[in-house]
Amino acid sequence: MATVTINGKTVEVPDGTNLVRAAEMAGQEIPHYCYHPGLSVAGNCRMCLIDIRAMSAKQPNPMPKLQIGCNTIVQDGMVIESNNARVKEARQGVLEFLLINHPIDCPICDQAGECKLQEYYMDYGRYHSRFALEEKVDKGKVIPVGPDIMLDQERCILCTRCVRFLEEVTGTCELGVTERGDHTELTLAAGKQVDNPYATNIVDICPVGALTSREFRFRARVWYLDSSPSICTGCATGCNIDVDSREDRIYRIKPRANAAVNGYWMCDEGRRTWHRNQGEHRLSASYLRSGDEFVETDASEVTAKAAAALRAGSRTAIVASAAVSLEEGYLARQIAQRLGAGPCLVISPATSDIADDGKLISTDRYPNRAGLVALGYREEHVPPSGVDSVLALRADMVAADEGAWGDFLETMSETVVVTDAVGKTMAYADHVLAVGSHFEAPGAFVNRDGRLQVFAAAVAPPGRAVAGWQTLANLLAALGGPRYASVDEVFAALCLEIGLGAGRTHVAVGSDGTPLASWGANSLAKGAAGASRAGTPASI
Ligand code: SF4
Ligand code: SF4
Ligand code: FES
Repeated sequence: MATVTINGKTVEVPDGTNLVRAAEMAGQEIPHYCYHPGLSVAGNCRMCLIDIRAMSAKQPNPMPKLQIGCNTIVQDGMVIESNNARVKEARQGVLEFLLINHPIDCPICDQAGECKLQEYYMDYGRYHSRFALEEKVDKGKVIPVGPDIMLDQERCILCTRCVRFLEEVTGTCELGVTERGDHTELTLAAGKQVDNPYATNIVDICPVGALTSREFRFRARVWYLDSSPSICTGCATGCNIDVDSREDRIYRIKPRANAAVNGYWMCDEGRRTWHRNQGEHRLSASYLRSGDEFVETDASEVTAKAAAALRAGSRTAIVASAAVSLEEGYLARQIAQRLGAGPCLVISPATSDIADDGKLISTDRYPNRAGLVALGYREEHVPPSGVDSVLALRADMVAADEGAWGDFLETMSETVVVTDAVGKTMAYADHVLAVGSHFEAPGAFVNRDGRLQVFAAAVAPPGRAVAGWQTLANLLAALGGPRYASVDEVFAALCLEIGLGAGRTHVAVGSDGTPLASWGANSLAKGAAGASRAGTPASI
């Protein structure tokens, strides 16, 4: 560890920390453009200038010239200033240079509200440029550089974050910097498009409005959006994400940093998972079968009738997709136990036609296989025997294998379908309960590395659909089981049962998640950790 004093505040930071990070730890800001903690240091923007007043305890002499904080590593006893008159004047000069050729696009720029050029100009700028507006160098605007990415060369401040991402993270090198002086510009490599599976991360890391997402641009001003922490359900990696929404409509998903899971990145496929949350296929009301018809019915009535019908049967199987949350899986398992301990099955295959890429993308396209295995679910892809009723949980098994599952469901005396979307299995249902998706209720998943992670609700369920955990809690109560008033109560109960300790809450899991093993998981849960992949956490 090294002790460093920044603007009068003394902190201890790990050896090897640069001054931009050390300042953050001291609650101070050193403005920066080109530095990104997930990339190599380029040191080209000069925005992070600092004044070193003492190099170290052993060498307490000041540095004669200003240095860049991103490329200066802390030394024990170092003293720096980032807000004195010398630094302020130099930083104003840097901003003045950056803005000489920057267009006056802010009112129509999609980055407005989250643009580091706007923010730093207001906080550290000179306000009066000595350069004439008419003399700006014109460059390309509205240039498509990939299926989802537009480039505005005039807005680019040439920080090279995007170039380094495409070199160092994806290794695809689609963008580069060409020309000299004030004609320097960001350009596509000949014959290339930025269309790799992680491409849209360059939009996130561009500090200005030079790179924008074709899907998101001009759809919403960012200051109207609410951000909710969540977990991507695109595959078993469980990348940490923020879901940006407004008035119960999702507008975009961005990666949320978690060094133990996804670093600073996510894949484009995962970024688009919110598309499934909107559209005609979403179920917004519950139904009872009447002959060949479904009759829209209040969820409480469907629940009561489903409970009575299931109780009349002799053995119920729970058939779940590996996309159900831990809480939903636990409640469904309790339902099965009350109804005669039928099997609890996960029917989602662990493999797909998408290969593990050694970065983030997993061949297992489901977010909670390890969680359901920890709860005692069995992986099986064929219909169970010895049961006369089925509770299908977010599982469209008829779509997977119509012959086998269709024939099986024909023989059931009772089929209850709990789902957020219309599917083929509904055709065999006697009772249909409409539930919200994982964007619409809080819950927890366990990822492929056995990491327990929680997510918050970002938007409300559509129409008269109810949160999945609430629907199953109501069904369990209708069957005479315990009553749960909140998702935290369910979570605490399931943690106790699978050996994760008493009094556990979502808050205690933390924003970065917790390895199951660190909570002293019992042998069942330990076996589940890494159920779909053995090995170390994903690194990218
Ligand atoms: S496009 Fe954005 S990230 Fe890329 S060099 Fe320009 S300013 Fe930096
Ligand atoms: S790698 Fe998997 S979990 Fe991560 S963003 Fe992509 S689909 Fe989602
Ligand atoms: S952030 Fe240090 S030079 Fe750009």
